[in-house]
Amino acid sequence: MANARIQSGVDVSDVKDSKNQKGAKPRTKSDKNINQEYGGNSGGSSYEETLGRKAMPNLQSLERIVLQNIVGQDEPVRQIITSIYKSIVFRSLKSNILIMGNSGTGKTETVKQILKRLQIPYTIEDATKYTQEGYYGSDVIEMFYNLLDSAHEDIERAQYGVIVVDEIDKKAGRFSDGERDVSGIEVLNSLLKLIEGSKIPINQYESMDTSNIIIIFLGAFSGLEKIRDERLRKNSVGFSISENSTDTSDSRILKQDLVKYGFPEEFVGRIGTIVQMNKLKVEDLVSILRNSKLSIFRRYQKELRERGICLSYSGKLFESIARKSLSLDTGARELTNTVNYIFERIMYEILSEPNKYRRRKHVTNYHKCILYPGIVNDNTQYRII
Ligand SMILES: Nc1ncnc2c1ncn2[C@@H]1O[C@H](COP(=O)(O)OP(=O)(O)OP(=O)(O)O)[C@@H](O)[C@H]1O
Ligand SMILES: [Mg+2]
Repeated sequence: MANARIQSGVDVSDVKDSKNQKGAKPRTKSDKNINQEYGGNSGGSSYEETLGRKAMPNLQSLERIVLQNIVGQDEPVRQIITSIYKSIVFRSLKSNILIMGNSGTGKTETVKQILKRLQIPYTIEDATKYTQEGYYGSDVIEMFYNLLDSAHEDIERAQYGVIVVDEIDKKAGRFSDGERDVSGIEVLNSLLKLIEGSKIPINQYESMDTSNIIIIFLGAFSGLEKIRDERLRKNSVGFSISENSTDTSDSRILKQDLVKYGFPEEFVGRIGTIVQMNKLKVEDLVSILRNSKLSIFRRYQKELRERGICLSYSGKLFESIARKSLSLDTGARELTNTVNYIFERIMYEILSEPNKYRRRKHVTNYHKCILYPGIVNDNTQYRII
């Protein structure tokens, strides 16, 4: 398979950065006029031909690995992985995905955890950065160029990639006074046009076919549940977009709720899978702290152990951290702040004595760092002995 690597002015050495957009380079028109020495797109190739099916991990093993990091979202994780796999393996069933859920429930993290293991190019885009054509801000077409960057300029691979559009609710909702954000809707419309299988010019000879690119939209959608509850109360049907379920006990968000929220119908119609993340409870946050590979607490614990310090704390500590973090309504996001606060003074003490607490391969004599229960609210409540 020809690797259509573009010999352009684009520095591909920082393609990794394009995944978080900091290093993504907008391609100017002049960038498209570039020398190239390869054929055009083959057009008819499938994902399997392009990447080889073996590049994809087994669905269930991927699910298992992701769930070692992501807590309390077993069903959403299964839905997201299934939907992505379905789109990749059965191209004719490709569907765009919308993932919604409160802040800090793991939307962005889940998608990252999945995509980084799929060995397909992807880019995570912040919708708020994009504006209507001709206005100040970035044009949505740049998302596709960023995807191409993350595919190391290989057009064929980019054509089977994933674009994650984060914070989409900021573009689709209504302002609090009920007015529609017209420019936001325009951005959605431009994006829609581009995902309808357009061909995006890359250079004089080549273009990128967007028909197989999977789009994953993420958003917190505050206020959407109210709309759903209202519908359930009224038990109303009769919107122009039909749904299979009219069961009032069904707490799923339906497409009609999204339309009411402010999304254009054309947009909603192009979403094949809607995934609702679960709200995280105290037990989930405790489990994140204790078990998740992403646990900030476990990271501190590991770093300190390597410097000969063993943490000692009561079993209730995680629960206090979880409760304190949840009080802010930003889900697991706040865990980082709470845990960083707990360790702030401890870090100060350790960093003040670099020799005493230096990193070693084999620690024979451990110091003990006792975290007293009050440390969650007063970070002087510890002792290293
Ligand atoms: N379910 C979870 N399991 C483990 N860690 C989680 C979970 N949810 C969130 N986290 C932690 O919180 C951080 C923030 O999560 P993430 O960015 O995925 O939130 P989000 O749902 O995208 O929120 P927002 O709407 O504010 O963007 C993650 O980096 C991760 O460490
Ligand atoms: Mg997010």
